[in-house]
Amino acid sequence: MASPIRVAVTGAAGNIGYALAFRLASGEVFGPDQPVHLNLIEIPPAISALDGVEMELDDCAFSTLAGVTKVDSDHLEEGFGDCNFVLCVGSVPRGKGMERGDLIRINGPIFTNTGKAIQAAAAKDVRIVVVGNPCNTNCLIAMNNAPDIPRDRWYAMMMLDQNRAKTQLAQKSGQPVSSVSKMTIWGNHSATQFPDYFHAEIGGTPAPEVIKDDAWLQNDFIPIVQKRGAAVINARGASSAASAANAALDTVKSIISVTPENETFSAAVCSDGSYGVDEGLIFGFPLQSDGATSKIVQGQEHNEFAQQKIDATLKELREERDTVKDLLN
Ligand code: NAI
Repeated sequence: MASPIRVAVTGAAGNIGYALAFRLASGEVFGPDQPVHLNLIEIPPAISALDGVEMELDDCAFSTLAGVTKVDSDHLEEGFGDCNFVLCVGSVPRGKGMERGDLIRINGPIFTNTGKAIQAAAAKDVRIVVVGNPCNTNCLIAMNNAPDIPRDRWYAMMMLDQNRAKTQLAQKSGQPVSSVSKMTIWGNHSATQFPDYFHAEIGGTPAPEVIKDDAWLQNDFIPIVQKRGAAVINARGASSAASAANAALDTVKSIISVTPENETFSAAVCSDGSYGVDEGLIFGFPLQSDGATSKIVQGQEHNEFAQQKIDATLKELREERDTVKDLLN
């Protein structure tokens, strides 16, 4: 058997972490012949909950699980040691009456330490997926605190938005979700994101030509996707967890697979100035991977409506960057 891939998950005893660990261990992501070693990281008071997660992992008897290391967040270098993938899920959730800016300032320091420890200890080929919100700006902070890690290794998760958008288009058109392709979420993982239905396809045909209902696409589809997280919280009394974990795994799968020529996937990556987005911002783009590295797909044209949406989400990310300026090395 191959030597194990090491995957670190922060916030591993939380709702998303709990849903992630078992699927990572099961062989679903890296294949049945690839052992996985899990480094599960939590804040000290949650370490005993991790003991329970480890017991349950043992009780699954996964043949692909090579081992589990539990680490508290005061020892991040140990937590990220030799890791090939780091899934940054742990962060402080938004509380009542808390503004987005407050949350950014609270979580920012977590991600300065995360960036430094990844640089100091992770494997040379490390890829990082940031899930904890505000994920684009958390990723920006971590990346800037790890200047020796190539910038194309950093991803913030837009896949949950992509999957939500795909299902909305599938349900509206009466087509299977597998027929929806090229669904890009531009910008920030927030209510300003732009789910770009103009470039999405259903069965290879542009989505607007299949759906033939521009008013629905503009006035219903976009806000449904933008506000889906809040709708789940209202219905479930807790934020998306299983679907978020699923999206994190879909992101890893997309990164390690060669993207089919007629497909793209969504994640926020470090802008190289493409599409007028400031270099260095972590921005949701259409991507294609060669199985190791992802590139921003070039040449998509945007009409005035779409450009306005992209400009709005860009403005928000610039403001978030300015809020954490002192944390960017
Ligand atoms: P949760 O509160 O159930 O779990 C978070 C876990 O992180 C807790 O167990 C907590 O102890 C741990 N934690 C806190 N600070 C930590 C630190 N410094 N180091 C390590 N662990 C730490 O929250 P849940 O539902 O698992 O969500 C986690 C994050 O994911 C939240 O920020 C949430 O907003 C975000 N999220 C992102 C989505 C996306 O699409 N990007 C979708 C859904 C949630």
